[in-house]
Amino acid sequence: MDEFVAPHVGQLIGVDVSGEMVKKATARLAHLPNVRFVEGDGYTLPLPDASADLVFTHIVLQHMPRHVTRGYLADVLRVLRPGGDLVFQMPEVGQGTPNDPPGDDTFEMRFWTEAELRALLEKLGFVWRSVKRYPVEAPGVRFHQLRMHCSKP
Ligand SMILES: C[S@@+](CC[C@H](N)C(=O)[O-])C[C@H]1O[C@@H](n2cnc3c(N)ncnc32)[C@H](O)[C@@H]1O
Repeated sequence: MDEFVAPHVGQLIGVDVSGEMVKKATARLAHLPNVRFVEGDGYTLPLPDASADLVFTHIVLQHMPRHVTRGYLADVLRVLRPGGDLVFQMPEVGQGTPNDPPGDDTFEMRFWTEAELRALLEKLGFVWRSVKRYPVEAPGVRFHQLRMHCSKP
């Protein structure tokens, strides 16, 4: 995805907790001068305060225990410049969606309601912008992927 976004931005910094993924992504996009990847600690973004115009995350937060997601969202507010945007995806509680897996499980998904996410984002200090829903059907489950957009005042 970063390959397609890079031509449209000044600088793109990809963050992953896995050093192996950072190494692979760095090698794969070595030809793009405005892209770099950095290894994070799994809880916070290794970026300075008020340094980013946009934070985007896709199929990552869904795998984290809720307290880790809450911590990340708070840290996003720290790294965004005033007026900066956060766009992220999260699976919504739906028909047949399971309860949370054990805290140390980083493979299965956590399902949130829009109201929970909205309340959390507003409590942290984000301004709510919009939500889009994309339907998902799999054996025994029907739910939507939420694409949430909010911004830093
Ligand atoms: C399903 S992949 C998605 C990768 C990419 N966003 C995409 O759409 O192709 C999930 C990625 O999240 C990373 N990840 C898992 N837990 C993380 C955490 N706590 N902090 C940062 N990255 C994490 C994994 O190492 C993995 O590369």
